[in-house]
Amino acid sequence: MRAEKRELRRWMRLAASILWLAAVGAAAGPQTIKPGEVWPDDRGQHIQAHGGGIIKVGDIYYWFGEDRSQGLDPSKRYVGCYSSKDLANWTFRSRVIQLSAPEDFSPRWVLERPKVYHNAKTGQFVMYMHIDDAYRLARVGVAVSNTVDGEYRYLKSFRPLGQESRDIGQFIDDDGAAYLIFEDRPAKGFHIATLSEDYLTVEKEVCLIRAPLEGGAIVHYKGLYYAIGSALTGWAPNPNKYATATRLEGPWSEFQDIAPPEMKTYGSQSTMLLKVVGTKATTVIFMGDMWKPKTQWDSRYLWMPLEIGEGKLRLPEPKEWTLDVVAGEAVVKK
Ligand code: GAL
Repeated sequence: MRAEKRELRRWMRLAASILWLAAVGAAAGPQTIKPGEVWPDDRGQHIQAHGGGIIKVGDIYYWFGEDRSQGLDPSKRYVGCYSSKDLANWTFRSRVIQLSAPEDFSPRWVLERPKVYHNAKTGQFVMYMHIDDAYRLARVGVAVSNTVDGEYRYLKSFRPLGQESRDIGQFIDDDGAAYLIFEDRPAKGFHIATLSEDYLTVEKEVCLIRAPLEGGAIVHYKGLYYAIGSALTGWAPNPNKYATATRLEGPWSEFQDIAPPEMKTYGSQSTMLLKVVGTKATTVIFMGDMWKPKTQWDSRYLWMPLEIGEGKLRLPEPKEWTLDVVAGEAVVKK
């Protein structure tokens, strides 16, 4: 009898830990990422987080991006939010933005490339996005929420530092300092700027990198800053390029191709560089969008671990790969 009870308890403990694992969504060990393929979320639906950005809160990653699902209200713009502990298995949290034209915009208004920052002082989550009307306004928009996956309240739009701003990028340095990257057509380059203490406005220019590039992304890796950008070819892919600097202020090196130029970044466009620091290694992930302008909901993601170091950066040919978030190790399949 006693032995039976013990056995029953053992099974119950096992069941409880399986349930716990399922609940936190933590799949242990290396997880597979398949660049360019349909990427199903926990509901089996292709992830809608295009032109996205990722932040880590505690040990959970949150991925925000344009939700371009079919069948949505064409007058509204949507931002999807997903969470993951391993960067491979994503749980849909909610549409954190479902917005009708927030200002006096035409039906051709634009909300693109949302990026969320967590302000430790105010506790608020602050979303920046490219807000536009037929691509003539060139502004950023700001929305806030008290919780990471709550409904974001739209506050305003403006031109950062009075300059035109189209594609935006997000960079958080190792010291926690938050920067906005924004493309400025008249200046023929992209700005790196600091945010105000409450993150609700853009405060000061750190650098204007004079290269006509958008989709700007930065990573700080082993004492060097690496910036990646895409040429200005709209939805069509082009050879993305990178430069390096020892300080964000520059001077920045000449831009060089991240992959053989004829491959056009393997059909993708830069959106973010994500650094995963693990117990054994550090992996920098190139996050790119493979846009499908006519079937935008089916746009894919090209995520690959970069070959990076000592001033060199290379995007390898996309192949299935595994990521062990805890160890920080990436292995590209042969
Ligand atoms: C790209 C940009 C995208 C989107 C698109 C519209 O250049 O990176 O975010 O704005 O143009 O044509």
